Amino acid sequence: MLQKEKSWWQKTVVYQIYPRSFCDTTGNGIGDLQGIIEKLDYLEELGIETIWFSPFFKSPQKDHGYDISNFRDIDSEYGKMMDFDKLLESMHDRNMKMVLDLVLNHTSDEHPWFIESASSRDNPKRDWYIWADGTKPKGKKPPNNWKAMTGGYAWKYDEKTEQWYYFHFLPFQPDLNYRNPEVKEEMFNTMRFWLDKGVDGFRLDILHAIYEDESLRDDEFSWHLFPSDKRVDSLFRKHKYDLNLPETIDFAFELRKVMDEYQPERFLVGEVYGSIEELSKYYGPKSNGLNMCFLFEYTDAKPKPKAYRNVISRIEKALPYPYTPTYVYGNHDMVRHLSRIDDNQQLAKLLVTMQLTLRGVPFIYYGEEIGMKNVNFDLKTSEDPIGRKFSKFPLSCIVKLFGISVTRDGCRTPMQWSNQPNAGFSNNETIEPWLKVPDSYKKINVEKERKNPDSILNCYKRLLALRKKSNVLFDGLFDFIEGNENKNCITYKRCNNDDKIYVYLNFINDEILLTCPVEEPNLLFSTLSNRVAIDIKAYHRKIKLTPLEGIIFKEKRK
Ligand code: GLC
Repeated sequence: MLQKEKSWWQKTVVYQIYPRSFCDTTGNGIGDLQGIIEKLDYLEELGIETIWFSPFFKSPQKDHGYDISNFRDIDSEYGKMMDFDKLLESMHDRNMKMVLDLVLNHTSDEHPWFIESASSRDNPKRDWYIWADGTKPKGKKPPNNWKAMTGGYAWKYDEKTEQWYYFHFLPFQPDLNYRNPEVKEEMFNTMRFWLDKGVDGFRLDILHAIYEDESLRDDEFSWHLFPSDKRVDSLFRKHKYDLNLPETIDFAFELRKVMDEYQPERFLVGEVYGSIEELSKYYGPKSNGLNMCFLFEYTDAKPKPKAYRNVISRIEKALPYPYTPTYVYGNHDMVRHLSRIDDNQQLAKLLVTMQLTLRGVPFIYYGEEIGMKNVNFDLKTSEDPIGRKFSKFPLSCIVKLFGISVTRDGCRTPMQWSNQPNAGFSNNETIEPWLKVPDSYKKINVEKERKNPDSILNCYKRLLALRKKSNVLFDGLFDFIEGNENKNCITYKRCNNDDKIYVYLNFINDEILLTCPVEEPNLLFSTLSNRVAIDIKAYHRKIKLTPLEGIIFKEKRK
Protein backbone atom coordinates (compact mmCIF):
# COMPACT_ATOMS: atom_id res chain seq x y z
CA MET A 1 0.00 0.00 0.00
CA LEU A 2 1.28 3.43 -0.90
CA GLN A 3 1.67 5.53 2.18
CA LYS A 4 1.79 9.24 2.74
CA GLU A 5 5.09 10.63 4.01
CA LYS A 6 4.87 10.64 7.79
CA SER A 7 5.08 13.79 9.88
CA TRP A 8 8.07 14.30 12.16
CA TRP A 9 6.06 13.55 15.29
CA GLN A 10 4.95 10.18 13.93
CA LYS A 11 8.57 9.14 13.59
CA THR A 12 9.83 10.47 16.85
CA VAL A 13 10.81 8.91 20.17
CA VAL A 14 9.76 10.86 23.26
CA TYR A 15 11.67 10.95 26.54
CA GLN A 16 9.89 12.23 29.63
CA ILE A 17 11.84 14.34 32.10
CA TYR A 18 10.54 15.01 35.59
CA PRO A 19 12.52 18.26 36.01
CA ARG A 20 12.64 18.10 39.81
CA SER A 21 14.67 14.91 39.61
CA PHE A 22 16.88 15.25 36.55
CA CYS A 23 19.88 17.39 37.42
CA ASP A 24 20.45 20.01 40.12
CA THR A 25 22.93 22.78 39.28
CA THR A 26 21.98 25.23 42.04
CA GLY A 27 22.79 22.77 44.81
CA ASN A 28 19.40 22.99 46.54
CA GLY A 29 18.50 19.33 46.02
CA ILE A 30 15.92 20.11 43.31
CA GLY A 31 16.56 19.66 39.61
CA ASP A 32 16.49 22.73 37.37
CA LEU A 33 16.36 23.87 33.74
CA GLN A 34 20.09 24.59 33.58
CA GLY A 35 20.64 21.00 34.73
CA ILE A 36 18.59 19.73 31.81
CA ILE A 37 20.59 21.89 29.39
CA GLU A 38 23.77 20.30 30.72
CA LYS A 39 22.41 16.81 30.10
CA LEU A 40 21.26 17.35 26.51
CA ASP A 41 24.51 15.79 25.24
CA TYR A 42 23.60 12.60 27.08
CA LEU A 43 20.11 12.53 25.57
CA GLU A 44 21.42 13.23 22.09
CA GLU A 45 23.97 10.45 22.43
CA LEU A 46 21.20 8.12 23.60
CA GLY A 47 19.24 8.91 20.43
CA ILE A 48 16.35 10.91 21.87
CA GLU A 49 14.59 13.35 19.53
CA THR A 50 11.73 14.79 21.57
CA ILE A 51 11.49 15.62 25.27
CA TRP A 52 8.28 16.01 27.28
CA PHE A 53 8.78 17.98 30.48
CA SER A 54 6.52 17.55 33.49
CA PRO A 55 5.39 21.08 34.50
CA PHE A 56 7.95 23.66 35.56
CA PHE A 57 5.48 26.57 35.64
CA LYS A 58 4.86 28.77 38.66
CA SER A 59 3.27 26.63 41.34
CA PRO A 60 2.98 26.23 45.12
CA GLN A 61 4.27 22.69 44.37
CA LYS A 62 1.62 20.95 46.44
CA ASP A 63 1.33 18.46 43.57
CA HIS A 64 4.84 19.26 42.32
CA GLY A 65 3.86 21.46 39.43
CA TYR A 66 0.47 19.96 38.52
CA ASP A 67 -1.05 22.76 40.63
CA ILE A 68 -0.26 25.86 38.60
CA SER A 69 -0.55 29.44 39.79
CA ASN A 70 0.71 31.09 36.60
CA PHE A 71 0.57 29.26 33.29
CA ARG A 72 2.89 31.67 31.56
CA ASP A 73 5.83 31.84 33.94
CA ILE A 74 8.59 29.53 35.14
CA ASP A 75 8.73 28.56 38.80
CA SER A 76 11.78 30.08 40.48
CA GLU A 77 12.74 26.62 41.83
CA TYR A 78 13.55 25.61 38.26
CA GLY A 79 14.93 28.85 36.84
CA LYS A 80 13.78 31.90 34.92
CA MET A 81 12.16 32.49 31.55
CA MET A 82 15.68 33.17 30.25
CA ASP A 83 16.65 29.61 31.18
CA PHE A 84 13.58 28.28 29.42
CA ASP A 85 14.46 30.21 26.25
CA LYS A 86 18.00 28.89 26.43
CA LEU A 87 16.76 25.33 26.90
CA LEU A 88 14.44 25.59 23.91
CA GLU A 89 17.17 27.11 21.77
CA SER A 90 19.71 24.46 22.80
CA MET A 91 17.22 21.74 21.96
CA HIS A 92 16.31 23.19 18.58
CA ASP A 93 20.00 23.65 17.77
CA ARG A 94 20.29 19.88 18.15
CA ASN A 95 17.17 19.30 16.12
CA MET A 96 15.34 18.14 19.22
CA LYS A 97 11.67 18.95 19.88
CA MET A 98 10.11 20.22 23.08
CA VAL A 99 6.78 19.06 24.51
CA LEU A 100 5.26 20.91 27.47
CA ASP A 101 2.79 19.54 29.98
CA LEU A 102 -0.45 21.45 29.70
CA VAL A 103 -2.68 21.24 32.75
CA LEU A 104 -5.92 22.59 31.33
CA ASN A 105 -8.33 20.91 33.71
CA HIS A 106 -7.54 22.82 36.89
CA THR A 107 -5.42 25.48 38.54
CA SER A 108 -3.86 25.72 41.96
CA ASP A 109 -6.18 27.10 44.65
CA GLU A 110 -3.48 29.78 44.99
CA HIS A 111 -3.95 30.93 41.38
CA PRO A 112 -5.08 34.59 41.38
CA TRP A 113 -8.12 33.53 39.30
CA PHE A 114 -9.29 31.17 42.00
CA ILE A 115 -8.57 33.64 44.78
CA GLU A 116 -10.78 36.14 42.93
CA SER A 117 -13.39 33.53 42.16
CA ALA A 118 -13.63 32.50 45.80
CA SER A 119 -13.77 36.07 47.06
CA SER A 120 -17.52 36.55 46.51
CA ARG A 121 -20.48 35.05 44.69
CA ASP A 122 -20.68 38.00 42.31
CA ASN A 123 -16.99 38.29 41.45
CA PRO A 124 -16.51 38.39 37.65
CA LYS A 125 -14.26 35.31 37.93
CA ARG A 126 -16.85 33.35 39.99
CA ASP A 127 -17.94 31.44 36.91
CA TRP A 128 -14.36 30.52 35.93
CA TYR A 129 -14.67 27.58 38.32
CA ILE A 130 -17.53 25.20 39.13
CA TRP A 131 -19.47 26.39 42.15
CA ALA A 132 -22.72 24.92 43.42
CA ASP A 133 -25.03 25.04 46.40
CA GLY A 134 -24.88 22.12 48.76
CA THR A 135 -27.81 19.91 49.63
CA LYS A 136 -29.67 19.77 52.89
CA PRO A 137 -29.26 20.22 55.80
CA LYS A 138 -28.35 23.89 55.33
CA GLY A 139 -26.32 23.17 52.22
CA LYS A 140 -23.64 21.47 54.25
CA LYS A 141 -23.70 18.29 52.12
CA PRO A 142 -21.97 18.22 48.70
CA PRO A 143 -24.11 19.15 45.68
CA ASN A 144 -24.03 15.57 44.32
CA ASN A 145 -22.39 12.16 44.77
CA TRP A 146 -19.39 12.65 42.46
CA LYS A 147 -16.09 11.14 43.58
CA ALA A 148 -12.65 12.64 43.03
CA MET A 149 -10.05 10.56 41.19
CA THR A 150 -8.03 10.26 44.38
CA GLY A 151 -11.04 9.15 46.48
CA GLY A 152 -13.62 10.97 48.61
CA TYR A 153 -16.15 13.58 47.47
CA ALA A 154 -15.11 15.78 44.58
CA TRP A 155 -16.41 18.92 46.29
CA LYS A 156 -14.94 21.29 48.85
CA TYR A 157 -17.04 23.63 50.95
CA ASP A 158 -16.13 27.30 51.08
CA GLU A 159 -17.23 28.82 54.39
CA LYS A 160 -17.01 32.39 53.16
CA THR A 161 -19.39 32.18 50.21
CA GLU A 162 -21.30 29.15 51.51
CA GLN A 163 -20.98 27.17 48.30
CA TRP A 164 -19.00 24.15 47.16
CA TYR A 165 -16.36 24.06 44.42
CA TYR A 166 -15.64 21.05 42.27
CA PHE A 167 -12.23 19.35 41.93
CA HIS A 168 -11.51 16.19 39.99
CA PHE A 169 -8.10 15.42 41.51
CA LEU A 170 -7.19 16.96 44.88
CA PRO A 171 -8.96 19.72 46.84
CA PHE A 172 -6.24 22.30 46.15
CA GLN A 173 -6.75 21.80 42.38
CA PRO A 174 -10.15 23.39 41.58
CA ASP A 175 -11.48 22.54 38.11
CA LEU A 176 -11.83 25.32 35.57
CA ASN A 177 -15.23 25.81 34.00
CA TYR A 178 -14.87 25.32 30.23
CA ARG A 179 -18.52 26.19 29.66
CA ASN A 180 -17.35 29.75 30.20
CA PRO A 181 -15.95 31.02 26.85
CA GLU A 182 -13.53 33.36 28.65
CA VAL A 183 -11.78 30.40 30.26
CA LYS A 184 -11.44 28.65 26.93
CA GLU A 185 -10.07 31.73 25.24
CA GLU A 186 -7.58 32.33 28.03
CA MET A 187 -6.26 28.78 27.89
CA PHE A 188 -6.10 28.71 24.09
CA ASN A 189 -4.09 31.92 24.29
CA THR A 190 -1.81 30.26 26.83
CA MET A 191 -1.16 27.55 24.26
CA ARG A 192 -0.42 30.22 21.66
CA PHE A 193 1.95 31.94 24.11
CA TRP A 194 4.17 28.83 24.23
CA LEU A 195 3.66 27.91 20.58
CA ASP A 196 4.79 31.41 19.58
CA LYS A 197 7.97 30.76 21.50
CA GLY A 198 8.50 27.68 19.34
CA VAL A 199 7.31 24.83 21.55
CA ASP A 200 6.62 21.73 19.43
CA GLY A 201 3.78 20.05 21.28
CA PHE A 202 1.78 19.51 24.44
CA ARG A 203 1.00 16.59 26.67
CA LEU A 204 -2.53 17.15 27.94
CA ASP A 205 -2.99 16.38 31.61
CA ILE A 206 -6.18 14.43 32.60
CA LEU A 207 -7.98 15.64 29.52
CA HIS A 208 -10.88 13.23 30.09
CA ALA A 209 -11.99 15.41 33.02
CA ILE A 210 -12.38 18.75 31.20
CA TYR A 211 -16.20 18.85 31.11
CA GLU A 212 -18.79 17.73 33.64
CA ASP A 213 -22.54 17.33 33.28
CA GLU A 214 -24.04 20.80 33.22
CA SER A 215 -26.91 19.94 35.55
CA LEU A 216 -24.61 18.01 37.92
CA ARG A 217 -26.69 14.82 37.82
CA ASP A 218 -25.79 12.17 40.41
CA ASP A 219 -23.39 9.51 39.15
CA GLU A 220 -24.53 5.90 38.79
CA PHE A 221 -23.32 3.03 40.95
CA SER A 222 -20.61 0.68 39.70
CA TRP A 223 -19.21 -2.47 41.34
CA HIS A 224 -15.65 -1.39 40.55
CA LEU A 225 -13.63 0.01 43.39
CA PHE A 226 -10.09 0.21 41.99
CA PRO A 227 -9.19 2.28 38.97
CA SER A 228 -8.19 0.33 35.87
CA ASP A 229 -6.83 1.22 32.46
CA LYS A 230 -9.60 -0.68 30.72
CA ARG A 231 -12.53 1.44 31.91
CA VAL A 232 -13.30 4.63 33.78
CA ASP A 233 -15.53 3.11 36.49
CA SER A 234 -13.90 3.26 39.92
CA LEU A 235 -14.65 4.05 43.55
CA PHE A 236 -18.13 2.54 43.02
CA ARG A 237 -19.00 5.18 40.44
CA LYS A 238 -19.55 4.89 36.68
CA HIS A 239 -18.14 8.38 36.13
CA LYS A 240 -20.79 8.85 33.50
CA TYR A 241 -21.27 12.54 34.16
CA ASP A 242 -17.74 13.67 34.96
CA LEU A 243 -15.43 11.83 32.52
CA ASN A 244 -15.11 11.56 28.73
CA LEU A 245 -18.22 13.65 28.01
CA PRO A 246 -19.02 14.28 24.31
CA GLU A 247 -18.15 17.93 24.99
CA THR A 248 -14.67 16.85 26.07
CA ILE A 249 -14.12 14.95 22.82
CA ASP A 250 -15.28 18.02 20.84
CA PHE A 251 -12.88 20.06 22.92
CA ALA A 252 -10.03 17.88 21.61
CA PHE A 253 -10.98 18.98 18.08
CA GLU A 254 -10.91 22.63 19.16
CA LEU A 255 -7.47 22.18 20.68
CA ARG A 256 -6.28 20.69 17.43
CA LYS A 257 -7.53 23.74 15.53
CA VAL A 258 -5.32 25.94 17.71
CA MET A 259 -2.33 23.70 16.94
CA ASP A 260 -3.14 23.79 13.22
CA GLU A 261 -2.64 27.57 13.21
CA TYR A 262 1.08 26.77 13.38
CA GLN A 263 3.68 25.61 10.91
CA PRO A 264 5.77 23.47 11.01
CA GLU A 265 3.34 20.97 12.44
CA ARG A 266 3.04 20.61 16.24
CA PHE A 267 1.41 17.77 18.15
CA LEU A 268 -0.91 16.91 21.04
CA VAL A 269 -0.76 13.77 23.13
CA GLY A 270 -3.57 13.21 25.60
CA GLU A 271 -3.59 11.66 29.01
CA VAL A 272 -7.06 10.21 28.71
CA TYR A 273 -8.52 7.32 30.66
CA GLY A 274 -10.74 4.70 29.11
CA SER A 275 -10.52 1.63 26.90
CA ILE A 276 -8.47 1.78 23.70
CA GLU A 277 -11.71 1.90 21.72
CA GLU A 278 -13.01 4.82 23.77
CA LEU A 279 -9.73 6.70 23.44
CA SER A 280 -9.72 6.29 19.69
CA LYS A 281 -12.59 8.82 19.59
CA TYR A 282 -10.20 11.54 20.71
CA TYR A 283 -8.13 11.03 17.54
CA GLY A 284 -11.11 12.30 15.51
CA PRO A 285 -12.93 10.68 12.57
CA LYS A 286 -10.66 12.46 10.09
CA SER A 287 -7.54 12.55 12.26
CA ASN A 288 -8.75 15.99 13.29
CA GLY A 289 -8.42 15.49 17.05
CA LEU A 290 -5.50 14.67 19.30
CA ASN A 291 -2.52 13.41 17.35
CA MET A 292 -2.04 10.68 19.95
CA CYS A 293 -3.27 9.38 23.29
CA PHE A 294 -1.42 7.35 25.85
CA LEU A 295 -2.69 3.79 25.55
CA PHE A 296 -2.42 2.66 29.13
CA GLU A 297 -3.97 -0.73 28.44
CA TYR A 298 -0.65 -1.65 26.83
CA THR A 299 1.27 -0.26 29.81
CA ASP A 300 -0.85 -2.31 32.13
CA ALA A 301 -0.77 -5.58 30.18
CA LYS A 302 0.72 -8.64 31.89
CA PRO A 303 4.22 -9.13 30.45
CA LYS A 304 3.11 -12.28 28.64
CA PRO A 305 2.85 -12.92 24.89
CA LYS A 306 -0.88 -13.62 24.94
CA ALA A 307 -1.72 -10.40 26.78
CA TYR A 308 0.48 -8.33 24.47
CA ARG A 309 -0.85 -10.01 21.34
CA ASN A 310 -4.39 -9.17 22.43
CA VAL A 311 -3.73 -5.59 23.31
CA ILE A 312 -1.61 -4.89 20.21
CA SER A 313 -4.29 -6.45 17.96
CA ARG A 314 -6.91 -4.22 19.56
CA ILE A 315 -4.71 -1.16 19.12
CA GLU A 316 -4.08 -2.00 15.47
CA LYS A 317 -7.82 -2.48 14.94
CA ALA A 318 -8.95 0.66 16.76
CA LEU A 319 -6.14 2.89 15.46
CA PRO A 320 -5.13 1.60 12.02
CA TYR A 321 -2.84 3.61 9.76
CA PRO A 322 -2.89 6.68 9.46
CA TYR A 323 -3.66 6.89 13.22
CA THR A 324 -0.62 6.75 15.46
CA PRO A 325 -0.65 4.64 18.62
CA THR A 326 1.73 5.23 21.53
CA TYR A 327 3.68 2.67 23.48
CA VAL A 328 4.54 3.49 27.08
CA TYR A 329 5.89 1.50 30.02
CA GLY A 330 5.97 4.14 32.70
CA ASN A 331 5.59 7.72 33.80
CA HIS A 332 5.73 9.87 36.94
CA ASP A 333 2.49 8.36 38.29
CA MET A 334 3.30 4.64 38.05
CA VAL A 335 5.47 2.09 39.77
CA ARG A 336 8.66 1.92 37.70
CA HIS A 337 8.54 -0.60 34.89
CA LEU A 338 11.54 -2.68 35.98
CA SER A 339 9.98 -3.17 39.41
CA ARG A 340 6.68 -4.21 37.83
CA ILE A 341 8.50 -6.99 35.97
CA ASP A 342 10.30 -8.25 39.09
CA ASP A 343 13.61 -6.57 38.26
CA ASN A 344 14.11 -8.88 35.31
CA GLN A 345 16.68 -7.02 33.20
CA GLN A 346 16.57 -9.50 30.30
CA LEU A 347 12.82 -9.12 30.11
CA ALA A 348 13.22 -5.34 30.20
CA LYS A 349 15.50 -5.57 27.14
CA LEU A 350 13.03 -7.81 25.37
CA LEU A 351 10.14 -5.44 26.09
CA VAL A 352 11.98 -2.36 24.90
CA THR A 353 12.83 -4.22 21.68
CA MET A 354 9.08 -4.60 21.22
CA GLN A 355 8.28 -1.02 22.27
CA LEU A 356 10.73 0.49 19.80
CA THR A 357 9.66 -1.66 16.84
CA LEU A 358 5.86 -1.54 17.08
CA ARG A 359 3.94 0.86 14.84
CA GLY A 360 3.64 4.04 16.88
CA VAL A 361 5.49 6.53 19.02
CA PRO A 362 7.39 5.19 22.04
CA PHE A 363 7.58 7.22 25.24
CA ILE A 364 10.51 6.53 27.58
CA TYR A 365 10.38 7.69 31.20
CA TYR A 366 13.70 9.05 32.52
CA GLY A 367 15.78 6.35 34.18
CA GLU A 368 13.97 3.53 32.39
CA GLU A 369 16.93 3.36 30.01
CA ILE A 370 19.30 2.44 32.84
CA GLY A 371 16.85 0.17 34.65
CA MET A 372 16.09 2.42 37.62
CA LYS A 373 13.90 0.68 40.18
CA ASN A 374 10.97 1.88 42.22
CA VAL A 375 11.87 2.96 45.74
CA ASN A 376 9.84 2.44 48.91
CA PHE A 377 8.87 5.52 50.89
CA ASP A 378 6.97 5.98 54.09
CA LEU A 379 3.47 7.27 53.34
CA LYS A 380 3.36 9.58 56.36
CA THR A 381 6.34 11.60 55.18
CA SER A 382 5.50 11.21 51.50
CA GLU A 383 6.25 14.21 49.32
CA ASP A 384 3.39 13.14 47.10
CA PRO A 385 0.10 14.45 48.53
CA ILE A 386 -1.68 11.22 47.54
CA GLY A 387 0.69 9.21 49.73
CA ARG A 388 -0.03 11.47 52.71
CA LYS A 389 -3.76 11.33 52.02
CA PHE A 390 -3.70 7.52 52.28
CA SER A 391 -1.16 7.23 55.08
CA LYS A 392 -3.90 6.39 57.57
CA PHE A 393 -5.15 3.35 55.66
CA PRO A 394 -3.60 -0.14 55.82
CA LEU A 395 -2.99 -0.17 52.11
CA SER A 396 0.29 -1.96 51.61
CA CYS A 397 -1.39 -5.29 50.77
CA ILE A 398 -3.59 -3.62 48.16
CA VAL A 399 -0.55 -2.00 46.64
CA LYS A 400 1.13 -5.38 46.23
CA LEU A 401 -1.99 -7.10 44.94
CA PHE A 402 -2.94 -4.55 42.32
CA GLY A 403 0.42 -2.98 41.56
CA ILE A 404 -1.07 0.41 42.44
CA SER A 405 1.37 2.90 43.89
CA VAL A 406 -0.13 4.96 46.65
CA THR A 407 2.76 7.37 46.88
CA ARG A 408 4.24 8.30 43.57
CA ASP A 409 7.54 9.30 45.20
CA GLY A 410 8.92 5.84 44.41
CA CYS A 411 9.16 6.48 40.68
CA ARG A 412 10.33 10.09 40.99
CA THR A 413 13.73 9.71 42.67
CA PRO A 414 16.74 11.60 41.28
CA MET A 415 18.30 10.38 38.05
CA GLN A 416 21.26 8.12 38.76
CA TRP A 417 24.14 9.57 36.78
CA SER A 418 27.20 8.11 38.52
CA ASN A 419 28.44 6.48 41.71
CA GLN A 420 29.36 9.87 43.19
CA PRO A 421 27.40 11.08 46.28
CA ASN A 422 23.72 11.70 45.42
CA ALA A 423 24.31 9.64 42.28
CA GLY A 424 25.82 12.75 40.68
CA PHE A 425 22.33 14.33 40.59
CA SER A 426 23.35 17.48 42.46
CA ASN A 427 26.51 19.55 42.33
CA ASN A 428 26.15 19.85 46.10
CA GLU A 429 27.33 16.52 47.46
CA THR A 430 26.17 17.21 50.99
CA ILE A 431 22.63 18.30 50.22
CA GLU A 432 19.77 15.92 50.84
CA PRO A 433 17.82 15.86 47.55
CA TRP A 434 14.06 16.45 47.70
CA LEU A 435 13.69 12.67 47.43
CA LYS A 436 16.38 10.38 48.75
CA VAL A 437 18.58 8.62 46.21
CA PRO A 438 18.32 4.84 46.74
CA ASP A 439 21.48 2.83 47.50
CA SER A 440 21.05 0.95 44.23
CA TYR A 441 22.66 3.92 42.47
CA LYS A 442 26.13 2.48 43.03
CA LYS A 443 25.28 -0.36 40.65
CA ILE A 444 22.67 1.31 38.47
CA ASN A 445 23.99 4.52 36.95
CA VAL A 446 24.70 6.05 33.56
CA GLU A 447 28.47 6.19 33.94
CA LYS A 448 28.77 2.51 34.79
CA GLU A 449 26.33 1.33 32.15
CA ARG A 450 27.97 3.35 29.42
CA LYS A 451 31.06 1.16 29.75
CA ASN A 452 29.19 -2.14 29.73
CA PRO A 453 28.18 -3.30 26.24
CA ASP A 454 25.60 -5.61 27.79
CA SER A 455 23.84 -2.92 29.87
CA ILE A 456 20.22 -1.89 29.46
CA LEU A 457 21.48 1.56 28.48
CA ASN A 458 23.47 0.17 25.56
CA CYS A 459 20.50 -1.95 24.54
CA TYR A 460 18.35 1.22 24.28
CA LYS A 461 21.13 2.97 22.36
CA ARG A 462 21.53 0.19 19.82
CA LEU A 463 17.78 0.01 19.29
CA LEU A 464 17.38 3.77 18.96
CA ALA A 465 20.23 3.91 16.44
CA LEU A 466 18.64 1.13 14.38
CA ARG A 467 15.26 2.86 14.53
CA LYS A 468 16.77 6.08 13.26
CA LYS A 469 18.13 4.47 10.11
CA SER A 470 15.19 2.15 9.36
CA ASN A 471 12.35 4.00 7.68
CA VAL A 472 10.24 0.88 7.72
CA LEU A 473 10.05 1.11 11.51
CA PHE A 474 8.30 4.48 11.13
CA ASP A 475 6.11 3.98 8.15
CA GLY A 476 5.84 0.23 7.72
CA LEU A 477 2.56 -1.53 8.32
CA PHE A 478 2.43 -3.97 11.20
CA ASP A 479 1.48 -7.65 10.97
CA PHE A 480 1.86 -10.57 13.31
CA ILE A 481 3.54 -13.52 11.60
CA GLU A 482 1.11 -16.38 11.40
CA GLY A 483 2.44 -19.89 11.71
CA ASN A 484 4.69 -18.97 14.59
CA GLU A 485 1.85 -19.41 16.98
CA ASN A 486 4.17 -20.55 19.73
CA LYS A 487 2.49 -19.31 22.85
CA ASN A 488 5.82 -18.32 24.35
CA CYS A 489 6.83 -15.86 21.71
CA ILE A 490 5.68 -12.88 19.70
CA THR A 491 6.73 -12.58 16.06
CA TYR A 492 5.80 -9.79 13.68
CA LYS A 493 6.91 -7.93 10.62
CA ARG A 494 6.93 -4.31 9.55
CA CYS A 495 6.67 -3.69 5.80
CA ASN A 496 6.62 -0.73 3.45
CA ASN A 497 7.01 -0.61 -0.31
CA ASP A 498 10.79 -1.01 -0.17
CA ASP A 499 11.57 -2.91 2.96
CA LYS A 500 10.55 -5.62 5.40
CA ILE A 501 11.82 -6.12 8.94
CA TYR A 502 11.10 -9.09 11.22
CA VAL A 503 10.97 -9.00 15.01
CA TYR A 504 11.15 -12.26 16.99
CA LEU A 505 10.72 -12.16 20.77
CA ASN A 506 11.18 -15.12 23.09
CA PHE A 507 9.35 -14.61 26.38
CA ILE A 508 10.56 -17.70 28.24
CA ASN A 509 13.66 -18.71 30.09
CA ASP A 510 14.35 -21.55 27.65
CA GLU A 511 15.70 -21.80 24.16
CA ILE A 512 13.06 -21.73 21.47
CA LEU A 513 13.09 -22.71 17.77
CA LEU A 514 11.01 -20.66 15.36
CA THR A 515 10.43 -20.90 11.63
CA CYS A 516 12.54 -18.49 9.64
CA PRO A 517 10.45 -16.60 7.07
CA VAL A 518 13.36 -15.80 4.73
CA GLU A 519 16.10 -17.80 3.06
CA GLU A 520 19.02 -15.83 4.36
CA PRO A 521 18.31 -13.67 7.40
CA ASN A 522 20.53 -10.72 8.11
CA LEU A 523 20.68 -9.93 11.81
CA LEU A 524 20.18 -6.25 12.61
CA PHE A 525 19.88 -6.46 16.38
CA SER A 526 19.79 -8.88 19.27
CA THR A 527 19.18 -8.20 22.94
CA LEU A 528 22.40 -10.23 23.36
CA SER A 529 25.09 -7.69 22.67
CA ASN A 530 27.59 -10.31 21.48
CA ARG A 531 25.36 -12.10 18.98
CA VAL A 532 26.72 -11.42 15.48
CA ALA A 533 24.60 -13.54 13.16
CA ILE A 534 21.72 -15.96 12.92
CA ASP A 535 22.75 -19.48 12.03
CA ILE A 536 19.72 -21.07 10.48
CA LYS A 537 21.28 -23.89 8.48
CA ALA A 538 22.00 -26.03 11.48
CA TYR A 539 18.38 -25.83 12.48
CA HIS A 540 16.61 -26.67 9.20
CA ARG A 541 15.31 -23.20 8.54
CA LYS A 542 14.59 -22.71 12.19
CA ILE A 543 15.90 -19.76 14.12
CA LYS A 544 17.14 -20.49 17.59
CA LEU A 545 16.44 -17.85 20.21
CA THR A 546 18.21 -18.08 23.56
CA PRO A 547 16.20 -17.50 26.81
CA LEU A 548 14.41 -14.12 26.76
CA GLU A 549 16.19 -13.12 23.58
CA GLY A 550 14.72 -10.67 21.10
CA ILE A 551 16.08 -10.26 17.59
CA ILE A 552 15.42 -8.03 14.60
CA PHE A 553 16.39 -9.17 11.10
CA LYS A 554 15.67 -8.79 7.41
CA GLU A 555 16.35 -10.72 4.23
CA LYS A 556 19.91 -10.47 2.98
CA ARG A 557 20.09 -8.45 -0.24
CA LYS A 558 21.08 -10.69 -3.14
C1 GLC B 1 -2.17 13.70 35.98
C2 GLC B 1 -0.69 13.80 36.26
C3 GLC B 1 -0.47 13.65 37.73
C4 GLC B 1 -1.16 14.80 38.43
C5 GLC B 1 -2.64 14.83 38.08
C6 GLC B 1 -3.29 16.13 38.47
O1 GLC B 1 -2.67 12.44 36.21
O2 GLC B 1 0.00 12.83 35.50
O3 GLC B 1 0.88 13.62 38.07
O4 GLC B 1 -1.00 14.68 39.81
O5 GLC B 1 -2.87 14.69 36.70
O6 GLC B 1 -2.86 17.17 37.65
